[in-house]
Amino acid sequence: MGQQAKPALTTCDEETKPLILFEDVSKSFAGARVAVQNIDLKVAPREFVTLVGPSGCGKSTLLNMVAGIFAPTSGRVLYNGTPVGALNRKVGYMTQADHLLPWRTVSGNIAVPLEIAGLPRRQIKARIDELLALVGLDQFAASYPSQLSGGMRKRVALARLIAGDPDTLLMDEPFGALDAQLRLLLQIELRGLCRRLGKTVLFVTHDIDEAVALADRCAVFTGRPGTIAEYFMIDLPVERNLKSLRFDSKYQKECARLWRRLTPEIARVGTEDEPALLPFAQEATQ
Ligand SMILES: Nc1ncnc2c1ncn2[C@@H]1O[C@H](COP(=O)(O)OP(=O)(O)O)[C@@H](O)[C@H]1O
Ligand SMILES: [Mg+2]
Repeated sequence: MGQQAKPALTTCDEETKPLILFEDVSKSFAGARVAVQNIDLKVAPREFVTLVGPSGCGKSTLLNMVAGIFAPTSGRVLYNGTPVGALNRKVGYMTQADHLLPWRTVSGNIAVPLEIAGLPRRQIKARIDELLALVGLDQFAASYPSQLSGGMRKRVALARLIAGDPDTLLMDEPFGALDAQLRLLLQIELRGLCRRLGKTVLFVTHDIDEAVALADRCAVFTGRPGTIAEYFMIDLPVERNLKSLRFDSKYQKECARLWRRLTPEIARVGTEDEPALLPFAQEATQ
């Protein structure tokens, strides 16, 4: 691949010490093709960055490298100025599946990271009460996951995620399987919570509307091997009302801008990397 101009880093300026820094990072897996290539990404403390792009372009791979699950093949991933080595304990990770333990109550599930950290019992109890209040589940401390709605389960997972007070939340399509209304509610709660607690977030999504609504900045990936094609500064206020956002012309403009940027990826369908469209769909995209 030719050397292309790298997109400008806009929110993490020269004076700001980045919390997460990818320096020309590439990652290949044994026997597989290159997953990501020449990634430069600088995330400021408390910044909310969404990652959007076609499936298989390496978004999860980037999160895994911040978490220290695997190292880059070339380049460096720094966290707070230090190369990420073994498991990065300053981050919390959340995926689409909530991985709640069915035999533990809500409190018991939230306690897991606190128990692993070896906190004294009394401290665990106090922290759980605080977290239950934060996610509005005080009344459900003794309930089991099977007794909860999908949204409540997500809130438990969120409380467990922030229990150990990580600086950074790595979120890999966490709301992917939810219906639109519930997704909106959780987006409101997540952005509010992160602002309030001063969390830094890397949030992967397929959903363009979500990528705009949540983000201070959005990184747009190209297809495999994944590179960041462009950074979009999201031109919306930091304190925003997600509930009325869809009627906001600025928001609609931002979504349209992102759509236009991602649409060329649809043209890649039918190439070596992606299965061909059905014939009628091919006609419709011409
Ligand atoms: N642990 C792994 N072992 C081998 N190949 C992997 C592994 N993780 C990801 N890959 C490959 O890296 C590429 C990018 O994957 P991934 O980061 O999951 O993409 P995305 O999250 O954007 O869908 C894919 O081709 C995938 O098969
Ligand atoms: Mg993924």
